[in-house]
Amino acid sequence: MSKTIKKIGVLTSGGDSPGMNAAIRSVVRTCAFHNIECVGIYRGYQGMIEGDFKELGPRSVNNIINKGGTFLKSARSQEFRTPEGRKKAHDNLVKEGVEALVVIGGDGSFTGGLLFNAEFGFPVIGIPGTIDNDIYGTSHTLGYDTALNTVVEVIDKIRDTASSHNRLFLVEVMGRDAGHIALNAGIGAGAEEILIPEEDLGLERLMDSLKRSKSTGKTSSIVVIAEGDKTGKNVFELKDYVESNFPEYDVRVSVLGHMQRGGSPSCFDRVLASRLGVKAVESILEGKSNYMVGLLNDKIALTPLEQAIKGHTEIDRELLRVSDIMSI
Ligand code: F6P
Repeated sequence: MSKTIKKIGVLTSGGDSPGMNAAIRSVVRTCAFHNIECVGIYRGYQGMIEGDFKELGPRSVNNIINKGGTFLKSARSQEFRTPEGRKKAHDNLVKEGVEALVVIGGDGSFTGGLLFNAEFGFPVIGIPGTIDNDIYGTSHTLGYDTALNTVVEVIDKIRDTASSHNRLFLVEVMGRDAGHIALNAGIGAGAEEILIPEEDLGLERLMDSLKRSKSTGKTSSIVVIAEGDKTGKNVFELKDYVESNFPEYDVRVSVLGHMQRGGSPSCFDRVLASRLGVKAVESILEGKSNYMVGLLNDKIALTPLEQAIKGHTEIDRELLRVSDIMSI
């Protein structure tokens, strides 16, 4: 293993996700294991521009493996989008003696890292952190598994009240551009229908399904809707639409929102974070740059950052079929 790098910086950027703290912990401790220094960069790229740094040792990351959010804080920096901002950030890193970066975030964060590398030749390795699971080159992003469990737990609770009142609940979950949360949590929570951004299933189909539900004796139903679904109606307009077609339905809306991003990470996310952090640091020490570390076929694998940014994750269409069969 080459030992030329003596100090690594780590930051979290973009939307936070459960497991980010566990990933920071892993990066810090892997650095310590290899006798190199680690610097925490606060508030993502904005903190890099402002020189908001702190040396982190193995004891700085005690008791955070179980914590949601990111203790380094996260931000979406407009200034880092400018060459002047990136130059300031680079000057600060050089002053601090930081020689490589681990960026924990989503594709926007990776785009920033890639640009930074292109301009200054600075080694960058990405760790995918977002609850949306929409990053190419990994079967799971950090926080996705926790978010699924959170959503299922909440929908289970909604089901209790839905069935007590014979109601139809429209539950909106996160996923601006990706339906992974809606599809998997929807099946896990026994949803009647699942609406996702990747597939325009049409309102007709939803109406048919609701009609069928009534006729087959269902007294309550849950429909899970991803934020970016293709109905062209927001969840409240959808409620009005359903009620105007089926006045007999008592419809309620529940928008789960940012609670999906919080909470203690699942065991899966903690283990994934630990594995990804080790691989990120050791890849830097092997002289690699511009890669994302991810999970493919349960093995930790590297994907070029450019591919991770440009590639598309596909939803598993078989899951749509399974959901159809389950809602008979
Ligand atoms: O990117 C993750 C995500 O959770 C999306 O699903 C959601 O639309 C978005 O973040 C919300 O971001 P913000 O925190 O800016 O409201």
